[in-house]
Amino acid sequence: MSIIVRFPPKKVTPVSNTCLAEVGVFAAPDYAALCNHVADLIAALIQSKPDAVLGLATGATPLGVYAALARRHREEGLDFSRVTSFNLDEYYPMSPRSLRSYRQFMAMNLFDYVNCQHWSVPDGRPTSIAQIAMTCRDYEQAIHDAGGLDLQLLGVGRTGHMGFNEPGSSLHSRTRLVTLAPVTRQDAALGFGGIENVPTQAITMGVGTIMEARQIVMMASGSAKSEIVHRVLTDEISDQLPASFMRLHENAVLCVDEAAGRMIL
Ligand code: GLP
Repeated sequence: MSIIVRFPPKKVTPVSNTCLAEVGVFAAPDYAALCNHVADLIAALIQSKPDAVLGLATGATPLGVYAALARRHREEGLDFSRVTSFNLDEYYPMSPRSLRSYRQFMAMNLFDYVNCQHWSVPDGRPTSIAQIAMTCRDYEQAIHDAGGLDLQLLGVGRTGHMGFNEPGSSLHSRTRLVTLAPVTRQDAALGFGGIENVPTQAITMGVGTIMEARQIVMMASGSAKSEIVHRVLTDEISDQLPASFMRLHENAVLCVDEAAGRMIL
């Protein structure tokens, strides 16, 4: 199985004074190879730093990574006992017991299968504005107290969001309550049995929170992501495309499969 690394990608001409050359693009032939590669990065981090602090993402894209990590725990003894993890976001309002919550998503797809004791997802339980602000501050403080994020895993939404930082989210934004873009709610409609059931808000780590991670690994899979992948690499870096901010990070890699990378490879 061949995996190609292009650095920088050959078809991409940056439009402005970008830091494109800083972004590695890792192209895998298919989804399985993509997920294995990302799982390798995370496993290598945990092996070199057993008390690593992970930032994890939800969505369909990282599912294969979580399956690969669970398998490595089961078959190879990859040890999560000293790992701490913080998830990017949670719908608001959302009960942590709801099967539609990102908390349950992470339990069902990863944490029920590995020996990690310290994992957090923002608390989406309905409460007062003051309480939400405190929840967000506490989340930032907990990341800080854990030593900061060693590796932040990201997907990318069709709006160019990362986490739930929709267009308009500033580079310095922190964990906060946000309003979801209509496209984002549409993309979530199936899982909620109709767009009318999709919450209009969410709590998300900010772009600034994400950018403080020591390493960023953004993933994209499938042809539906090829256009946004192209834009993330070629559009002007701006708050209109929050995922483009990853190009300003000094240790970021965009990992794609061939379908998602077809406009850039
Ligand atoms: C949601 C999540 C994002 C994720 C995005 C893409 O909006 N909050 O973190 O990156 O979906 O999801 P998918 O991987 O299913 O395309």
